Amino acid sequence: MLNGKIVIITGATSGIGKETALGLAKLSATIIITTRDDNRGNEIKNEIIQTTDNKNIGVFHCDLASFESIRNFCRKFKTKYHQLHVLINYVGTWHFKRRESKDGIENIFATNYLAPFLMTSLLLDVIQKSKPARIINLTSGLHYGTINFDDIEFKHNFSGMKAYSQSKLAIILFTRLLAKKLEGKGVTVNCVNPGMSKTNLGRDAGTFSRNMFKILGKDPKKGAETSIYLASSKEVENITGEYFVKKKIKKLSKEFLNMEVAKKLWNISTKYVKL
Ligand SMILES: NC(=O)c1ccc[n+]([C@@H]2O[C@H](COP(=O)([O-])OP(=O)(O)OC[C@H]3O[C@@H](n4cnc5c(N)ncnc54)[C@H](OP(=O)(O)O)[C@@H]3O)[C@@H](O)[C@H]2O)c1
Repeated sequence: MLNGKIVIITGATSGIGKETALGLAKLSATIIITTRDDNRGNEIKNEIIQTTDNKNIGVFHCDLASFESIRNFCRKFKTKYHQLHVLINYVGTWHFKRRESKDGIENIFATNYLAPFLMTSLLLDVIQKSKPARIINLTSGLHYGTINFDDIEFKHNFSGMKAYSQSKLAIILFTRLLAKKLEGKGVTVNCVNPGMSKTNLGRDAGTFSRNMFKILGKDPKKGAETSIYLASSKEVENITGEYFVKKKIKKLSKEFLNMEVAKKLWNISTKYVKL
């Protein structure tokens, strides 16, 4: 049980993030969800309370495609709560047409990678104060390719698939390097590939992708199992820097573990988010 533990879940208004929020609420954690649509956020809050009988559910406005909104959320959260035991960076988007975030940055890179990078960085002080604490980042089996340092925002030859894959590789590199930086400090950092699940993820990625998720995807409840496990199980309390699939560590090939690439990406990211 997670009584007294405070958990933030971004991207909990839909799909696997929502199932994770329901699962952790059943374990009696205090759940904080972020939303870009306040009505939707409150609907989900009521659904969680009705389904789990856990009334410790908070909703905060946060558009993850806006650095200002992320900064405002972190400030408001820290004013109200003084501890954070689990941060789950669930937010994700995938679209086939290039568009930009509120800060004028390619939206998939900004939302799937820079948003978790900034939010985690801004909350790290309260996370460290709350140790033992856990950070969980969402990646995907589609994390292939490399970081396209020459054109990280795909200003030329944009491909929604390449941008998505790069964002999920970036999350893995961020997870590995942050885990190293936090070694021995009581905070674990791991990433999860939830597996293809029936969610809204493909909704802006063309008819084929939309149908692919609906037809081939598993129940998002199943997709949520590994995140719930990582957030709550004693078995993983000391495991950090790993990539999990179906509640098991999966070894990544060397090309995805290159710490020089991870450091270069980190430096670029701090400039993007102005840390
Ligand atoms: N589904 C899969 O097969 C699959 C496979 C591998 C990895 N994943 C990863 O799992 C995570 C969850 O995805 P999902 O499949 O559950 O998709 P989903 O149903 O589309 O959920 C995505 C969540 O992210 C939120 N979001 C997107 N852009 C946002 C923004 N700018 N500001 C605030 N919130 C925003 C959405 O909010 P709204 O409700 O407002 O849209 C929603 O809560 C993602 O990181 C995804 O990459 C999914």
